[in-house]
Amino acid sequence: MRLGFLRRRDSNESSFFMKICCIGAGYVGGPTMAMIAFKAPDISVTVVDLNEKRIAAWNSETLPIYEPGLDEVVKTARGRNLFFSTDVKGAIAAADIIFVSVNTPTKTYGVGAGRAADLRYIESVARTIAEVATSPKIIVEKSTIPVRTATTIQEILAAHPRAAKCQVLSNPEFLAEGTAVADLTNPDRVLIGGERTPEGEAAIEALVAVYARWVPRERIITTNLWSSELSKLVANAFLAQRISSINAISALCEATEADVDEVANAIGKDSRIGPKFLKASVGFGGSCFQKDVLNLTYLCEHFGLPEVAAYWESVIKINDWQKRRFAANIVKALYNTVADKRIAVLGFAFKKDTNDTRETAAISVCRDLLTEQANVVVYDPKVPAHEIVADVLGKGAPANPRLTVAASALEACAGAHAIAIVTEWDEFKTLDYAAIFAGMPKPAFIFDGRNILNLAQLRAIGFRASGIGK
Ligand code: UDX
Ligand code: UDX
Repeated sequence: MRLGFLRRRDSNESSFFMKICCIGAGYVGGPTMAMIAFKAPDISVTVVDLNEKRIAAWNSETLPIYEPGLDEVVKTARGRNLFFSTDVKGAIAAADIIFVSVNTPTKTYGVGAGRAADLRYIESVARTIAEVATSPKIIVEKSTIPVRTATTIQEILAAHPRAAKCQVLSNPEFLAEGTAVADLTNPDRVLIGGERTPEGEAAIEALVAVYARWVPRERIITTNLWSSELSKLVANAFLAQRISSINAISALCEATEADVDEVANAIGKDSRIGPKFLKASVGFGGSCFQKDVLNLTYLCEHFGLPEVAAYWESVIKINDWQKRRFAANIVKALYNTVADKRIAVLGFAFKKDTNDTRETAAISVCRDLLTEQANVVVYDPKVPAHEIVADVLGKGAPANPRLTVAASALEACAGAHAIAIVTEWDEFKTLDYAAIFAGMPKPAFIFDGRNILNLAQLRAIGFRASGIGK
């Protein structure tokens, strides 16, 4: 194995071939490191986080995030070569490769507020590494960051009198939540960017060797640092743009009696367009799309490209509009008032098979309905009630008696004037809608924000049923 850049271990130092540390035990750091440990038993992987509760959860029977298949991966490797700890400095000092997987939220203050990425955590991690690292390390940017962030990390390291010489690589993560284990097991590609110098190439090669344990070499792409950093933002922007494009067309379909699913199917058969990411919806959510598109627009402006910035910003504007349009359509259909009416909101996570609610369309829909004084009853199979309430009303805000959380879909729907499907959980496809209909005041409405239900069958039961772009 060519490890060039890395020092050799002597036999009594450790039985592991290599030591990896990952700073940030979140949705990206946790599953990604678990997969590396699972696939490479001879590499020691330690995931550290400042958040003690999160680390305790990773060490417990109930992991802090829900991902199909993740429990098995973690339980196989944990204690063998996968460790979760709050000893950030100790793990950095011992590691050969340090993944930085801390969050990079949208800035909420100062210059660039609402759009630029907040890099305070990245910088503080770089400072900690500079302080602690006394032997050469490979530092890997796993977090999504603005292009040229590696320069910041390099400068902080270079400025520290005692810091060891480190190489900075960019290795963005493309996993999607809910399918993290499948995406990590069989990625479309792994992208690694580094400096095109002998030291940089050696560092790239060391990281390639880690992924090559299970990813075919031809799927591991290597580029210069800046291409890699930028590609992550661009990939998310293109994906988000496809959803906003089909959602924009969904409104035109509603006005013209075209069916958006039929249109998506027809255009998706063109191999140049392709079938994926053309599902019209109540709007995209998740921690990445909005944040990364806003970050891209900010970068474009920063580099003097206002037309390019405006183009990408429209992706977000359509998404905001689509979320508001869904709630507005409910109000309009219910005779322009939902005041004191019970509205069942089925699903709260930003998509199925995850408990993540960041930027979920459900927040916007619930808030709009509450503003109209509806009694909103939410049910989600994976999101805890306190999380739903905190997301809609704001953390620490006083309770609002109009917002409640039900323990089942049936409980939420009982006595509701309308049902709104906001997340496409499989269990909503097979509910006994005839029985639900019987327990609702008439006319009973159903709004399918994910186009997962058979509207014709619901109409045969007696529902006033509508979907997106139908
Ligand atoms: C990731 C990426 O890192 C982010 O850049 C990308 O755009 C989205 O996905 P994610 O794993 O979802 O973020 O973030 P989160 O679940 O918030 O986890 C980050 C963790 O880093 C938190 O547990 C936080 O406690 C930890 N952290 C943050 C540290 O340990 N140290 C810090 O200095 C800052
Ligand atoms: C996304 C990217 O897919 C992933 O590559 C990147 O690493 C992180 O951001 P994620 O946010 O986890 O992943 O989920 P994704 O499946 O992309 O869905 C994002 C949102 O778009 C969800 O709200 C989803 O419901 C919505 N969506 C997706 C649609 O509305 N229609 C579609 O056709 C696809």
